Amino acid sequence: MSKALDGVRILDFTHVQSGPTCTQLLAWFGADVIKVERAGEGDITRGQLRDIPDVDSLYFTMLNHNKRSITVDAKNPKGKAVLEALVKKCDVMVENFAPGALDRMGFTWERIQELNPKMIVASIKGFGPGPYQDCKVYENVAQCAGGSASTTGFRDEVPLVTGAQIGDSGTGLHLALGIVTALYHRTHSGRGQRVTCAMQDGVLNLCRVKLRDQQRLAHGPLKEYSQYGEGIPFGDATPRAGNDSGGGQPGRILKCKGWEKDPNAYLYFITQAPVWGAICDMIGEPGWKTHPDYAKAEARLPRLNAIFERIERWTMTKTKFEAMDLLNQHDIPCGPILSMKELAEEPSLRATGTVVEVDHPKRGKYLSVGCPIKLSDSPADVKRSPLLGEHTDEVLTELGYTREQIQALRAERAV
Ligand code: COA
Repeated sequence: MSKALDGVRILDFTHVQSGPTCTQLLAWFGADVIKVERAGEGDITRGQLRDIPDVDSLYFTMLNHNKRSITVDAKNPKGKAVLEALVKKCDVMVENFAPGALDRMGFTWERIQELNPKMIVASIKGFGPGPYQDCKVYENVAQCAGGSASTTGFRDEVPLVTGAQIGDSGTGLHLALGIVTALYHRTHSGRGQRVTCAMQDGVLNLCRVKLRDQQRLAHGPLKEYSQYGEGIPFGDATPRAGNDSGGGQPGRILKCKGWEKDPNAYLYFITQAPVWGAICDMIGEPGWKTHPDYAKAEARLPRLNAIFERIERWTMTKTKFEAMDLLNQHDIPCGPILSMKELAEEPSLRATGTVVEVDHPKRGKYLSVGCPIKLSDSPADVKRSPLLGEHTDEVLTELGYTREQIQALRAERAV
């Protein structure tokens, strides 16, 4: 079966996490992703957070599946010539260098267009044009600058960053969409274009509902936030809301049986209005179905703390899985807090390829997250990440270099 992006060639100049997430997705969809690295060191993540000496880290292997690796010194004139040959041959260049680095290498947008007018150049930067455009940015900087940290955590505590890599992987996802959109546009424009994603913008996009709440504040308190029920006045910016639901259906994380010892014995419980009657029956409060303080969603808003305390007295009598089974019989939305251990061992995630076991020649078997996007006619088979420079000879040969020329490039440290 052919893959959706068969025939698309990606010159992958990405490193660390944000860019590699993007090109890994494109590789899973069938693109030929040629990752360019510096000889000797390669992508810095190969050596970061290593769990086994001298073996590519899980940080690297889990972000660079299905790619080929070629080592080229972009600052060596002969290495640069190799890159120019790749620019002519590829459809897309993806990079997430610090601002200005690609230009300093000599690959300005004008130069790339001269070499290949059909090339799409896709970039991730920390910030878009403006006061911070020249800054280097990592995940947590983006979470803080994009509105996530100021709205995550508990109201009277410090801002929190989240474990979900919304700045890096989130922006990589945004960029991948930009690239396939530009590829589609090229089918009728015949031209390449620049695709840029700023991590601040990507995070803000994912925090859209919090900008919604910022504007709602002008028209009164945010009644679904627990601080409303607690009688605490709102300030002039969207506050941190703990585990309150970000939507119109109030929700909380509640303790389940075993919470005293198990840090993940919790359940997210949503008091969705249409199933309120079923919730009342389940927790043993049938009188709440008709009581004027509880029957209507609006009446419940100032009482959410008391309501969730009562529901928690029920969830604490069940394990998170027992509660999940019972509640789902009545379509009451809820979700167990699953640990990474539980996710790694979950058979249904293995069956769908969302969690995959990969074999690596130096590391042996390890687990990874497979492609979370399922295409019925283009399934993603996860192949191990490349060793540093594993495909240098292969790619150079495809570019027309002879064995002797490759040896000469190596002798001059150009590749
Ligand atoms: N051959 C020769 N030089 C190479 C090379 C190659 N194959 N690959 C990279 N380099 C050089 C670059 O040209 C650059 O040199 P210069 O500064 O002299 O122009 C240098 O390596 C370092 O690149 P840089 O991107 O500045 O790396 P860094 O480790 O200092 O910074 C980041 C890392 C992530 C902070 C930075 O790249 C960045 O802000 N990127 C954009 C935002 C982003 O994606 N952040 C999230 C990362 S998960």
